[in-house]
Amino acid sequence: MKLNVTEIRKDFPILERETRSGVRLTYLDSTATSQKPLSVIQAMDDFYRRSNANIHRGVHTLAEESTALYESARDRIAKFINAGSARQIIYTRNTTESINLVAYSWARANLKQGDLVILTEMEHHSNLVPWHMLQAERGIELDFITVTEDGVLDLEVYKSLLSRRPKLVSFTHMSNVLGTVNPAAEMIKLAHEVDAIVLVDGAQSVPHLKVDVQALDADFYAFSAHKMCGPTGIGALYGKIELLEAMPPFLGGGDMIKEVKLRSFRANTLPHKFEAGTPAIAEAIGFGAAVDYLTKIGMENISAHEHEITEYALERLEEIPGLKLFGPSADKKGGVAAFTLDGIHPHDVAQILDQDGIAIRAGHHCAQPLHEKFGIPATSRASFYMYNTKEEVDLLVNGIYKVKETFK
Ligand code: ALA
Repeated sequence: MKLNVTEIRKDFPILERETRSGVRLTYLDSTATSQKPLSVIQAMDDFYRRSNANIHRGVHTLAEESTALYESARDRIAKFINAGSARQIIYTRNTTESINLVAYSWARANLKQGDLVILTEMEHHSNLVPWHMLQAERGIELDFITVTEDGVLDLEVYKSLLSRRPKLVSFTHMSNVLGTVNPAAEMIKLAHEVDAIVLVDGAQSVPHLKVDVQALDADFYAFSAHKMCGPTGIGALYGKIELLEAMPPFLGGGDMIKEVKLRSFRANTLPHKFEAGTPAIAEAIGFGAAVDYLTKIGMENISAHEHEITEYALERLEEIPGLKLFGPSADKKGGVAAFTLDGIHPHDVAQILDQDGIAIRAGHHCAQPLHEKFGIPATSRASFYMYNTKEEVDLLVNGIYKVKETFK
């Protein structure tokens, strides 16, 4: 179904604002964080106005209400990615914390010196640094699936790395710079043929594509609420039940225990075993409202709209002399357009566009090794979501011509 973007935009109050007098916001930075619809803002506001109490700790009405809201959000998040059970959804702070949970709990219990972990050259720092840290501590080995000139993973390199029998393969489902959507199902199947465990960084995919963790057969899948219309401060880790059951707890404290003695403790059952301390309750409720919102619009419809916008954006951007785009063609990627402009620093591009209310991101986008691979320190990056229009792409293109004019 074709999206009614005019109606959708009304759900996002921020899109109405001006960034300075007479200059309306053109928000092209959803890959960094998405905007939030009214239903999410209201769900969190309602919680604080009506139901605020700590969860899992009281028998009074408000405590029961907040616990029910918190757990019902988990149920809907589980359904949204087709997890077999809500027990497989661990609330974390964000994708980064979800990956760190796997690195601290599963990996430290299962990997020893010399064990191989396969990553890719297009990873976000959050799927590199936890493994660098484990390498320093344990002496695990890291190797990388290379990225081709057109910004896709070289699957032949992947197959040859698999012949070295890695213990873990961890890769992004969708690159936050190139937009590349990696063939996750195929990559997971290949990893399982050599008995490797697979962790998928879904920070960019869950907001934009229909993700079914069971169909993918992912062992772990990490994502964040704030990139999918939800609040900051909450994310999730999905895991296969037998893996999560066998893993030691991550952080210790309240809620993650069944029983504590002075000198010992027994861990709680899933998912609470991994949720120590008072969690981000309002944020979990906002996360639930976000998946309700995305479900109502329909993930297929969102992907189709973004595809149309991205195709148009790439076509228009390619026309601009001196502009170089990174990443594959629109059919292989999500709504991300990273580019350089000859002789002009990406920060200058972003700053001049900002004068016209156009918000893009400039820098290495937490993917320094990928930029190094392409021999550049930084890119400018425009990214699109369900609320973006072709008119906004035109504003971006006109803005880039203005940047070129300024630097002539
Ligand atoms: N990972 C986010 C981005 O790419 C912050 O912008």
